[in-house]
Amino acid sequence: MKILVVGGAGYIGSVTVEQLLAAGHQVVVYDNLLKGHRESVPEAATFVEGDMGDAAALDKLFGQHTFDAVMHFAALSLVGESVTQPDKYFKNNVSNGLVLLDAMGRAGIKKFVFSSTAAVYGEPTEWPIHEDFPHNPTNPYGESKLAFEKVLKWYENAYGLRYATLRYFNAAGATGCCGEDHDPETHLIPLILQVAQGKRDAISMFGDDYPTPDGTCVRDYIHVVDLADAHVRALSILGERSGTFNLGNGTGFSVKQVVEAARKVTGHPIPAKVAPRRAGDPAVLVASSARIREQLGWEPKYPDVETIIADAWRWHQAHPQGYHASAHV
Ligand code: UFG
Repeated sequence: MKILVVGGAGYIGSVTVEQLLAAGHQVVVYDNLLKGHRESVPEAATFVEGDMGDAAALDKLFGQHTFDAVMHFAALSLVGESVTQPDKYFKNNVSNGLVLLDAMGRAGIKKFVFSSTAAVYGEPTEWPIHEDFPHNPTNPYGESKLAFEKVLKWYENAYGLRYATLRYFNAAGATGCCGEDHDPETHLIPLILQVAQGKRDAISMFGDDYPTPDGTCVRDYIHVVDLADAHVRALSILGERSGTFNLGNGTGFSVKQVVEAARKVTGHPIPAKVAPRRAGDPAVLVASSARIREQLGWEPKYPDVETIIADAWRWHQAHPQGYHASAHV
C-alpha cells in the first residue's frame, strides 16, 4: 500500500514509518518539523515538509500521489500545556485534523489510522481499562482527542470513512534508529535516563501519597515497537470496518518501580526525590488490550519494562544530544 504518514518525523510516527517500510509499503512522511526531526525519516521514505492545517499543500500532495491510507500522528500532546493553552490544542488537534480529513475526502481516500490516548478516560476507578469505559477527559489534550474520535464516527456514517483509533497508554523505548527526543522533555523514562547520563542530578517523583501499593502513580508502559506494529496491523481491517483499540501491555509499573528498573539497566544510582503531585495525574492507568489481541492478533513482543528501558537507554547513549548532530542510518 502507499501510505501518507502525517507527523511521521515524530517519535511514534518515525518508528511506524520504519515498520511500514519493512512490511513493504511505500511511505510519504508529511511533517511541519515543529516537534519532529528530519533526521528520523528513513531515506526510503519520501519527505514533504508541511502543516496539517494547510489545505492547499495537502491538495497538492494528494494530487501528486495516490494514497491507499493516511496515518495521523501530528497532534500536540503535552497535558500541562493543554491546560494553560487549550486554544492551541483544539486548533491543532481538532481544526487542523479536520483540514486533513476534508482534504482526504476531496481526494477520495477512505482509510485512516488515528493516534488517540488513554487521556480520553480521565480518572478511571477500575482497572484494567476497557474501550467502553466512561470517557471523561480531565484536560484539553484528552478532550481534543475525544472530540476528534467523535468526528471520525460521524465521517464514517456520512462519508464511508474507515478508521482505526489507537488509544496509547505510555509509549517508551526505542529502535536502533529512532528514539524519544522531545523539547521540552516531560516523560518519566527519558527524564530518568537524563539522570543516568549526568544531565540532571535527580529524578523528581511527583507524589508518593497516591492510593497505590507504594504511593507513586502506576502506568502501563508499552514499547514503541509494539505500538508501531499495531498501526501496521490496523491497516488490515480498514477495507471492511472501523475500530477503536487500547494499546497497552496490561501491566502497571509505579514510578518507584520504573526508577528501580532504570537503576538495574543503567548501573547508575539514579537519585530520586519526592516532589509534589503534578496536576491532573490519575493514580493508575492500566489498559485492557483484550480487544486488539482478539481482533488484530496483536501481541506485545517487548512487555518487559527493563527491556523497554534498556532499548531507550541504548538510543540515548548513541544520541546523547538527541537527534542533533546525528543522521539517520
Ligand atoms: N513522573 C514523575 N516525574 C517526572 C515525570 C513524570 O514522577 O519527572 C510521573 C508522572 O507523574 C506519571 C508517570 O511518571 O505518574 C508517567 O508520566 P509521563 O509524563 O511519562 O506520562 P503520563 O502518564 O503523564 O502521560 C501519558 C502520555 C500522555 C497521555 C497520558 C494519559 O504521555 O500523552 O499518558 O494520561 F495523555
